[in-house]
Amino acid sequence: MIGIAVASIEFRGVVKRYADSAPTLPGLDLHIRDGEFMVLVGPSGCGKSTTLRMIAGLESVTAGELWIGDRLVNDLPPRDRDVAMVFQNYALYPHMTVFENMAFGLRVRKQPEREIRTRVEAAAETLGLVELLARKPGQLSGGQCQRVALGRAMVRDPQVFLFDEPLSNLDAELRVQMRASIGRLHREFGTTSVYVTHDQVEAMTLGSRIAILNGGELMQVGTPMELYSDPDNVFVAGFMGSPPMNILPVSNLGHALENRLLQLPRQGLERFGAELLLGLRPETLCPAAEAPAHWVRFSAPVEMVETLGAEMLVHLGEGDERLVARLPGLRSLTPGESLSLAFDPAALYLFDAGTRQRLREPRAVVAPESELVTP
Ligand SMILES: Nc1ncnc2c1ncn2[C@@H]1O[C@H](COP(=O)(O)OP(=O)(O)OP(=O)(O)O)[C@@H](O)[C@H]1O
Ligand SMILES: [Mg+2]
Repeated sequence: MIGIAVASIEFRGVVKRYADSAPTLPGLDLHIRDGEFMVLVGPSGCGKSTTLRMIAGLESVTAGELWIGDRLVNDLPPRDRDVAMVFQNYALYPHMTVFENMAFGLRVRKQPEREIRTRVEAAAETLGLVELLARKPGQLSGGQCQRVALGRAMVRDPQVFLFDEPLSNLDAELRVQMRASIGRLHREFGTTSVYVTHDQVEAMTLGSRIAILNGGELMQVGTPMELYSDPDNVFVAGFMGSPPMNILPVSNLGHALENRLLQLPRQGLERFGAELLLGLRPETLCPAAEAPAHWVRFSAPVEMVETLGAEMLVHLGEGDERLVARLPGLRSLTPGESLSLAFDPAALYLFDAGTRQRLREPRAVVAPESELVTP
């Protein structure tokens, strides 16, 4: 059986600079716990692969410290790190059988033949590859190839698994299957894993925690639900959730937060700037007629409707004041018609328009029920 080995990973002020350009990572502090499944997400070029490759030892650390368990690994060669990486293009050896592909890394490390057989067979069993061990990659589906690539990493029984978008070459159905397999493997073996993806659903469903990077800076680290419900800034708010949170500029003057769509009585916001950003998740909006009395109501012209069957995404408003509402797919709506919507004032988020950081007082912001204005 494949044993359990765990290790924490710690970035302490890690800087990565390629050649003479501005640093790709200006100073990363990130602690990945023993046995955790950490997902790294962020826009293209933000430094996800670089972060992973530094853990593997495939990229040098320009400054700062990188620890795996109790070892400072800055200068430790990849082969001594006990880390296995699964890449997007799984690059199996075409002339070798599935068995030989999985055994390859162990043979290079001069493991005894019996040990190799035991480990490959155990991994094949776990991944449902037993029937395929004698085939060559050309005779496998994409999903089966990806499982072999996973098996090749598993047989090494590493302290750490690294995944760089391992499922992005697969079609939607296989992605779901493989995602479930990877989740199951982690629950079973509990090996510390770092997983890079663009796919929000993968991030939300696999991650014990998610780290969001933007331009080499860590925006926030937290459990999927923490990032979804308690984002620190506009970037995180817009990154988690699909469709993303609506962000609307509002003026913070007089006695209300307002823009052309809505008006909210305010209290205790005087100390913040004259321009704020209001965040509202599409799923927190509902038809005004169905909302409790104390919810905030507003109307906006329908721009476009995306019908998804059970639900629909209604795009409303114009100019800067555009938003999306996720509503049950039961009504028919015509572009141009005015739709009345409502939201619970406790569900809104506020951000500073300049720093784009979260202002964490929205609950104190909105006046008591009786004072709410309906424009
Ligand atoms: N070998 C290299 N030499 C110079 N610059 C590099 C090198 N590798 C990566 N970079 C730069 O570092 C930045 C981060 O690259 P990285 O591959 O880590 O991004 P990423 O977040 O994985 O993006 P993607 O989602 O597109 O894979 C990019 O601006 C990239 O151009
Ligand atoms: Mg990458």
